[in-house]
Amino acid sequence: MNVAIIGTGYVGLVTGAVLSEIGHNVICLDINEEKITKLKKGESPIYEPGLDEVLERNIAGNRLSFTTSAEEAFENAEVIFIAVGTPQGEDGAANLTYIQQAAKDIAMHINRNLIVVVKSTVPVGTNDLIEETIRTNAIGSFQVDVVSNPEFLREGHAINDTFLGDRIVIGSENEHAGSTVESLFTKLNIPFLHTNRRSAEMIKYASNAFLAIKISYINQIYNLCEKVGADVNDVADGMGMDHRIGRAFLNAGLGYGGSCFPKDTEALAYLGRENEISISLVDAAIQANKEQRILFVNRVLEHFNGNVEGKKIAVLGLAFKPNTDDMREAPSLDIIRILSADGAEVHVIDPVVKETKLLAEVAVTHSKTLEECVQSAEAVLLVTEWEEFVRADWEELLALTKNATIFDGRNVLHNHKLISQVV
Ligand SMILES: NC(=O)c1ccc[n+]([C@@H]2O[C@H](COP(=O)([O-])OP(=O)(O)OC[C@H]3O[C@@H](n4cnc5c(N)ncnc54)[C@H](O)[C@@H]3O)[C@@H](O)[C@H]2O)c1
Repeated sequence: MNVAIIGTGYVGLVTGAVLSEIGHNVICLDINEEKITKLKKGESPIYEPGLDEVLERNIAGNRLSFTTSAEEAFENAEVIFIAVGTPQGEDGAANLTYIQQAAKDIAMHINRNLIVVVKSTVPVGTNDLIEETIRTNAIGSFQVDVVSNPEFLREGHAINDTFLGDRIVIGSENEHAGSTVESLFTKLNIPFLHTNRRSAEMIKYASNAFLAIKISYINQIYNLCEKVGADVNDVADGMGMDHRIGRAFLNAGLGYGGSCFPKDTEALAYLGRENEISISLVDAAIQANKEQRILFVNRVLEHFNGNVEGKKIAVLGLAFKPNTDDMREAPSLDIIRILSADGAEVHVIDPVVKETKLLAEVAVTHSKTLEECVQSAEAVLLVTEWEEFVRADWEELLALTKNATIFDGRNVLHNHKLISQVV
């Protein structure tokens, strides 16, 4: 099938790559010229394990191409995916500016009956609005069916998740449109769940908020464990062995970040307020997540009796989680900003993020090696649990420091020999 994808970010690019891999002709559209120029040269603008190989194979096989021209993208498209960003607005609601623009772009170029598939995470009712926008702005009368197909990939595992996902949710008001979208994915051998559009939209928010609640819950249990002498890892293992609970998302630490959980929980809380329905569990998870970062920084400050002025602090990890270069809502940002504002000499290292505009206003030194980063440091903060940090020779690293204490923000160094220095 001929497929066009609007928005070539983490979701759009991975979807395009996988759809081309299973035999569809895909053209990815983006307004960001820099991204498209890179992709045309076969270079991925994002760090995502396994993506480069899939891109290379399908660009070479002429099944995958890139453009900044909507006209070119939509010319032969039978199905158009929308995978543009839906960032958080000031009031917590999802900002639908990019979605509205994408719908208008489709309307301006529509020249045949069309199925539009919405992958972006959008508030309940948005698919209806997209369909209405396309129908009202289209020149000529064509059948347009908008189908909700929320995305569940995790950055860092996006390729695997797309090939081997738990479910593909298809929310449609038209049986033919729903089954056409199913036929796009049948080669993936993933179970389908067909429902209406509003339920599909809600499945995405309800799933993300549930996982966020799980994380905030174990973090609060962790804080209590610290006070009462329990070991949160054993507690999580013991809880996780109960199949009704499951061990996933029970890793206590700095809490969630990234481009999804923070904004999606806020958007769901907003939807609750708008409809005068209390979803206080989500509000509590948001609050607990914000507090968790502050608690961590406070532990560092307390260690220095409230004064970090001139102290060298090594921060290991910038990305919001391992195996991604995504810095959106990363806990590292808050931690670094606070410590730097308090006068600490912050040195950072991340295997993938070598610099970030998000810290442009902050005085931080980007180290090239782990050794350079921790050299003479008075505290070492493990903020992102990259494999190379967890597996590092901590004995050797510690010998380079000024008798530093390690603050294990991800609770992953507990089995380490140097446990006495891990806080
Ligand atoms: N990143 C994830 O892990 C993830 C997982 C599941 C769902 N989602 C959802 O998927 C959506 C996309 O997320 P993302 O992380 O891929 O975003 P992203 O910011 O990485 O990419 C969005 C892209 O859309 C482009 N764009 C915006 N308006 C456009 C237009 N009119 N025409 C063409 N391109 C346009 C932007 O330039 C950008 O490259 C969001 O709604 C997000 O909540 C993301």
